Amino acid sequence: MIYENVLETLGDTPVVRLRKLLPRPTDRIYVKLEGANPSGSIKDRAALHMVESAERKGYLGPGATLIESTSGNLGKSLALIGAVKGYRVILVVDPKTPQSVLSYAASLGAELDMVSRPDGNGSYQKTRIERVRQLLDEIPGGRNLDQYNNPDNPKAYTRFAAPEIVKDFDHLDALVVAVSTGGHITGLSSALKEHFPALHVRAVDAVGSAAFGHPFAPYKMRGIGLSWIPANLRSDLVDSLHRVADTEALSICRALAAEEGLLLGESGGAAVFAALTYAAANPGQVVLAIAPDSGVNYLYESYDDQWLRGQGIVPGSLFGTSAAVLRHTVTPMYPPSPPATGNPVDRPFGEVRA
Ligand SMILES: Cc1ncc(COP(=O)(O)O)c(C=O)c1O
Repeated sequence: MIYENVLETLGDTPVVRLRKLLPRPTDRIYVKLEGANPSGSIKDRAALHMVESAERKGYLGPGATLIESTSGNLGKSLALIGAVKGYRVILVVDPKTPQSVLSYAASLGAELDMVSRPDGNGSYQKTRIERVRQLLDEIPGGRNLDQYNNPDNPKAYTRFAAPEIVKDFDHLDALVVAVSTGGHITGLSSALKEHFPALHVRAVDAVGSAAFGHPFAPYKMRGIGLSWIPANLRSDLVDSLHRVADTEALSICRALAAEEGLLLGESGGAAVFAALTYAAANPGQVVLAIAPDSGVNYLYESYDDQWLRGQGIVPGSLFGTSAAVLRHTVTPMYPPSPPATGNPVDRPFGEVRA
């Protein structure tokens, strides 16, 4: 297949059926591998749609500088888009950002602005956003896409990712999705619930995240979770919530790599863990988990025993065998529950700039 530029290779990501790591051999659990997108994650979809929509609205044009807070993947996407379209890109990152992500973005010409001071609750997310505001004031032509509040973030998934799932599945009982900005769960759920009216949408959050209104506490997983409730998260489109702990996600990542040859990022591991919990309680259902990125982003972090020890996690404390992981999915640390409803609060930007 020949493309005019690398951005055209976006989408049509593969879906792979689990074969071994299953509650029952007949279970139909599928994983959509968003790591196959050009910069390696699901965020390519939101980033490209937000950029092109901002271009159409005249907010973004020649000479603009994209300034964005990112935990990693959005930054990779913007670095790639900036390289292809000719935008200067400044990424505000923090010490949790994986080294491979920083090296990727820098290789494509993005500038990295590292914050070092955690905010009041031990996360870096609000500090990053304060820094973005400061840079927007300082840099002429500075533009921010505000993925937390920008409606083009969820729209990217409604328009471009949901049709791929409709094309691949005649029938789908459950969709299991990790949440941070809420972009992909909101966009996919709104489109797929129309197509599959009985679809159960299960959100997956990190234990410690405040995205669904729980008190924030620092956690190890990257990409998943947030320290406030994002405006792009529509909890009325979510049927249940599974809060997954670091050790549960890290354990299943190792088991998926060893048993299924699937090297997933931590949030993808969390989504598959939650999908297995769902499937164990709902025999015979067709379940799709979204894996937002690949484990290649984390080879020198969560896939590295020495790094784990440095984080205070003893590798042996992870559930060593796939049988142990499977047993654990039946009785997870935090059983799934209905999501809390309510309006987004405490929005760091509070307005859509694009
Ligand atoms: C690895 C990873 N997982 C999950 C998510 C959450 O996706 P969303 O922001 O669409 O909720 C992200 C978003 O950046 C991510 O990078």
